[in-house]
Amino acid sequence: MKIYLEQGDITNIQADAIVNAANNELWMGAGVAGAIKRKGGIEIEKDAMSKGPIEHGEAIESIAGKLNAKYVIHAAGMRSDGFISKESLSKSVENSLFIAEKLQLQSIAFPAIGTGVAGFPPEECAKIMLDVLRNFKYTKLEKVILVLYSNEMYSLFLKVAENKEIEL
Ligand code: APR
Repeated sequence: MKIYLEQGDITNIQADAIVNAANNELWMGAGVAGAIKRKGGIEIEKDAMSKGPIEHGEAIESIAGKLNAKYVIHAAGMRSDGFISKESLSKSVENSLFIAEKLQLQSIAFPAIGTGVAGFPPEECAKIMLDVLRNFKYTKLEKVILVLYSNEMYSLFLKVAENKEIEL
């Protein structure tokens, strides 16, 4: 399994699953969720919400609508009241990986969960996400792509990754 860092819009990435930075009620607001809904269609939100609410830290899969993916995996790092913690962030990433393995996917793309509307510190997010991704016991997944929207976020994740086990 290889971890890739890419800068860009996650809705343009080709992967078996695109991860949405979700809240636990699974309605899709701004940020990544807004972009996925705009590009993939409102049916993604309808499908996701039909499987909620969930606990923050949990994740569910939905259809991917018009996106170039088989599924959207909604990782609820944040609670709908805005609460987010190290635990809910790391759990939402780990639970997304469990779902991808359950679905026998080969590739998955993550955004920097929590670092937008939820206001989670980006450097801590990078450490937590890379830690979960590096320690997970993969069976089917071959490619995990971290998609960073801004140049700054990309550079930060690159610094935190210290080029260990990262494909650029
Ligand atoms: N592609 C990749 N990354 C993106 C994109 C995009 N199209 N749009 C935004 N981002 C980045 C943001 O800049 C931020 O660094 O994704 C990171 C996560 O930001 P949010 O999407 O705001 O997610 P989060 O902070 O986890 O808040 C989740 O926001 O939109 C609502 O419905 C959503 O309630 C949920 C909450």
